[in-house]
Amino acid sequence: MPSTPRESIHGQWSSRLAFVLAATGAAVGLGNIWKFPYIMGQNGGGAFVLVYLACILLVATPILITEIMLGRRARRSPVHGMQALAREEGAPAAWSLLGWMGVIAGFLILSYYSVIMGWAIAYVERALAGSFTGLEGPAIKAMFQSFTANPLELLFWHTIAMLFTMLVVVRGVRAGLEAFTTLLMPLLFIILLILVGYGLSTGHFAEALAFMFTPNFSKLSASAVVVAMGHAFFTLSIGMGTIMAYGSYMPERTSIARTALIIVAADTLVALLAGMAIYPIVFANGLEPSAGPGLVFQTLPIAFGQMSFGVVFGALFFVALVLAAWTSSISMIEPAVAYLVESRGWSRARAGTLLGFAAWALGILTVLSFNHWAEVRLFGKNFFELLDFLTSNIMLPLGGLLLAVFATWVMRRASSFEELGLPAAAYVLWRVLTRYVAPLGILVVLLHGLGLLG
Ligand code: TRP
Repeated sequence: MPSTPRESIHGQWSSRLAFVLAATGAAVGLGNIWKFPYIMGQNGGGAFVLVYLACILLVATPILITEIMLGRRARRSPVHGMQALAREEGAPAAWSLLGWMGVIAGFLILSYYSVIMGWAIAYVERALAGSFTGLEGPAIKAMFQSFTANPLELLFWHTIAMLFTMLVVVRGVRAGLEAFTTLLMPLLFIILLILVGYGLSTGHFAEALAFMFTPNFSKLSASAVVVAMGHAFFTLSIGMGTIMAYGSYMPERTSIARTALIIVAADTLVALLAGMAIYPIVFANGLEPSAGPGLVFQTLPIAFGQMSFGVVFGALFFVALVLAAWTSSISMIEPAVAYLVESRGWSRARAGTLLGFAAWALGILTVLSFNHWAEVRLFGKNFFELLDFLTSNIMLPLGGLLLAVFATWVMRRASSFEELGLPAAAYVLWRVLTRYVAPLGILVVLLHGLGLLG
C-alpha cells in the first residue's frame, strides 16, 4: 500500500464528473481553437493533422493516463509528489526536479497565454459593438493588425485576463476551479457547430476538408513533426504537472483510463471542429492558411459580420473562447500554487497573487513581440515564438518522456497496476505504449527535429 495520504491537503473534487470537467476545461482552450488551426496552416494541413493524431493516440494519451495516475498516487503538488513517489519506489530524490521543470513551464506558458486570452476578451467587446458587421476579409485583417500594433491596448487586456485568472485561482479547488467549469463547454461546442454550419454555406467546405484531411507528406518537414508532438502535449495540458496536480485531487476508485479517454475525445473533437469552422472561411476569402497567430481573429469575425444574428453569435463565441481559455489558464499555475501552499504554508490567495503578478510581468515581453519587438529575433524567432517553442515543443515533451520513464521503468509494476486498476490486457497496452512507444517516439522526434539525427 502507498504510504501517502488518501486525500490531498488542498481538498478534492466532489465527484468523478467534476474531475472530468475540470481536466477537460484545462485541456480545451486556446490550444484547440486558436493554436491548432494556425499551426496546421503553417505546417501544410493534412499530413500535419495525421501526425498530430498519431501523437495524440500513441504518445499523449498514455502519458495523460500516466500523469493522472502519478498525481493521484502522490496526493501532493508535482514537486513534492515526485519526491514522495521517488522515496516510495526507492529512487533518487532528484526526480523532484521533474516537478520543478513543470512549475517553470506552466509559469512561462501562462505569461503568454494570458496575452492571447486578452485578445479574446477584447474581441468580445468588438463583437458586442457590432464592429464586424458587413466587413470583408481585408477590413477584418486590418482591424486585427491595428489592434496588435498597439502595445498599451494589448497590455490592458492582458492585465484583465491575468486578473480573471488570479481571481479563480485564489478561491481554491472546489469554489474556484470546479464551480467554474460546468456550463461553458457545452455552449462553446454548440457555437462551433453553428460556425461549421456557416462554413458549409460558403461553398468552400470541401476544400477545407481536403486541406485538413488529405495528407501530402512532401509538405511535412522535420520541424512540423516536432510542432505536432509538442502540440499534442500542449492541448492535453500534459508534461508539466497540471494534470498531476488535478489528479491529486481525484477521488479514490474512479477509472483513470476511462476518464482520460473522455478528455482526449472532447479535446480532439473541439480542435477538429475549430479547423472545420475556420478553413472554409479562409478559402472563401482568399486568406492565407499560414497567417499565424492571428488566423482565428482574422477569419471568424468575417462570418459573424455576414451571418444573421452575427452580433449575438459573435459575442457568444468570444465569451465562450474566453471561458475556455480561463479554465485552462487557471490550471497552469496550480502546480506552483499547490507547491507554495505546501512548502511555505502560504494561503492560496497569497501564492496565486504573487505568481500571477510575476507571470503578468513576464507577459509584457510577449505583448511587445507583436509590435515594437516583432523583429527582435533569436534563432529566427521573436520572444513569443521562442517562448512557445521552448515550452510546447521542448519542455512538455521532455517532461512527458521523463514521466513515462518514471512510471514504467522506475516505479514498481505492482504500484502502477494497483493505482490504475485496469483489466490485465488494458494494463499491458498502457504499459507497452508508455514504456516503449511513447519515450522512443518523443526521443526520435526531438532529436530529429532539433537536428541531432540529421
Ligand atoms: N491545454 C490548454 C489549451 O489547449 C493549455 C494548457 C492548460 C496547458 N494547462 C496547461 C498547456 C498545462 C500546457 C501545460 O489551451
